[in-house]
Amino acid sequence: MPADRVISPQGGATQPPTASRSAAAARENGGGAVVPPGITAEIPAWRLRAATIDDTEALLALASCPPVFRYLFDGAAPDRQTIAGVLTQSIATASDTGLGMWLLECAAAPPCGCVQLRPDLAARSAELIYLLHPRCWGQGLATRMAWTAITQAFLVSGIDLVVAGTDLPNIASLAVLRRLGMRFRRNVRYPLGVGVEYALHRDDPAPRPCPGSIAFVG
Ligand SMILES: CC(C)(COP(=O)(O)OP(=O)(O)OC[C@H]1O[C@@H](n2cnc3c(N)ncnc32)[C@H](O)[C@@H]1OP(=O)(O)O)[C@@H](O)C(=O)NCCC(=O)NCCS
Repeated sequence: MPADRVISPQGGATQPPTASRSAAAARENGGGAVVPPGITAEIPAWRLRAATIDDTEALLALASCPPVFRYLFDGAAPDRQTIAGVLTQSIATASDTGLGMWLLECAAAPPCGCVQLRPDLAARSAELIYLLHPRCWGQGLATRMAWTAITQAFLVSGIDLVVAGTDLPNIASLAVLRRLGMRFRRNVRYPLGVGVEYALHRDDPAPRPCPGSIAFVG
């Protein structure tokens, strides 16, 4: 494989990492290779697996990366109890509604990202949350896993709206929301400062280009 190209999970060649702002950020954040930790050769298919309580350590490791917790956990790394609580809640929600948390995996490497839907059935909406290990930034993976989750949300008849919020300086997250075709809903205030909330209604048009989906397993 030419050194300046990365083979995508579907076998197509993505842009050289040097072409991407996220990939540059990934290198600055200790990445260097735009592949998940532990993967050095050609990448097989990505998959999304429903989270279990056994994923506590893996999720804690992901959430403990400073570029990940910076905005997601308001500047402080979460502790094990917080992560176990998030997982316990998402597992309960998944058993009730089919919507919860999925971990992004590839081959036998540890999970390198996750996407979560937190349904609010009374409001007929679900909140979308996503994160990636910085080594995996700049490949479109967050957009793809978020789109896969949104598609799943609209398969649930009680959900009409997917909402997601981000701190305003979190431009990578804001870019994901826009790539998903989500639209500005309102300004919000977070502990670190101002933020925005975006939303996509089930009747809204799909984004163009439409992000590819990632297969669910398990
Ligand atoms: C938010 C976050 C997941 C975004 O990661 P990301 O890698 O920038 O987003 P994507 O995976 O969608 O990749 C988009 C980048 O890949 C590039 N790309 C390459 N192939 C692509 C494809 N097929 N589709 C879309 N984008 C593609 C895009 O051009 C873009 O690069 P750019 O930023 O240089 O313009 C990441 O910054 C993160 O984990 N942050 C910490 C957690 C957090 O803040 N989460 C948000 C709170 S909900």
